[in-house]
Amino acid sequence: MDIFFHLFLFLFPHNFSGTETNKIIAHFKIINKQFPFDSDFLSIPVYNTMDTHAAITERRSVKHFDPNHALTDEETNKIFELAMLSPTAFNIQHWRIVNVTDKALRQSIKEVAWNQAQVTDASLLLILTADLKAWEKEPQRYWKEAPQGVQDFMVPAIHQYYDGKDQVQRDETMRSMGIVGQTIMLAVKAMGYDSCPMDGFDYDAVGKLISLPDDHVIGYMLAIGKATEPARPRAGQLPMDDIVVQNTF
Ligand SMILES: Cc1cc2nc3c(=O)[nH]c(=O)nc-3n(C[C@H](O)[C@H](O)[C@H](O)COP(=O)(O)O)c2cc1C
Repeated sequence: MDIFFHLFLFLFPHNFSGTETNKIIAHFKIINKQFPFDSDFLSIPVYNTMDTHAAITERRSVKHFDPNHALTDEETNKIFELAMLSPTAFNIQHWRIVNVTDKALRQSIKEVAWNQAQVTDASLLLILTADLKAWEKEPQRYWKEAPQGVQDFMVPAIHQYYDGKDQVQRDETMRSMGIVGQTIMLAVKAMGYDSCPMDGFDYDAVGKLISLPDDHVIGYMLAIGKATEPARPRAGQLPMDDIVVQNTF
């Protein structure tokens, strides 16, 4: 319906009356609410981005980044804005993304990360961490804009789901960090950058270096920047039959 309306406006442009103009503006506002990728919702406009399937196909783990390239603040904010739209169970948004900009800290992290060059050469080094206890920290804020009835149902449900279940709390952080990481990797690919997810590091040592709170966990790191060398050819994809299970094992 919306597409046809836009097509109509495009195909049959004419001088609109004041009332018509207001209706059109109202219509666009509704569309923007449905698909809020505009400056009302995000602080900066959307870039010219690639097709989602192309971003998925072309994302590779790049090992060599241009150490002299820097992302603009606008680009960095854009990445975080998009990342924060990733789904989380009960909308608890428990990721805490550490953006390591300090050069000396990067060097220290590299030393406990098998000296992998991405750690210092990438334009961005993000450590994806999550708050294991976010579910009990003012959970009403995760539903504050929902209708009262929804809030009354969801907020106590959060408590019931996680309370006393350490494994569930931990599993949930790992699920969320996996999803947010892939969101970021596809987002940066669409912006013309590359990335490398990394778990080749000493988790305890990195935790100490970033003063990780006791009730937080590290998922993995993401190096992001401008590739100077493409990734090596894919190492070997399994046949689909090994991956996709029809109904039951
Ligand atoms: C959780 C995770 C941790 C990884 N850790 C490292 C790492 O420490 N260093 C590295 O060079 N690549 C790392 N990789 C990249 C993998 O080697 C790579 O994803 C895999 O070989 C598939 O290649 P592709 O990502 O280019 O498709 C990691 C990937 C994942 C998902």
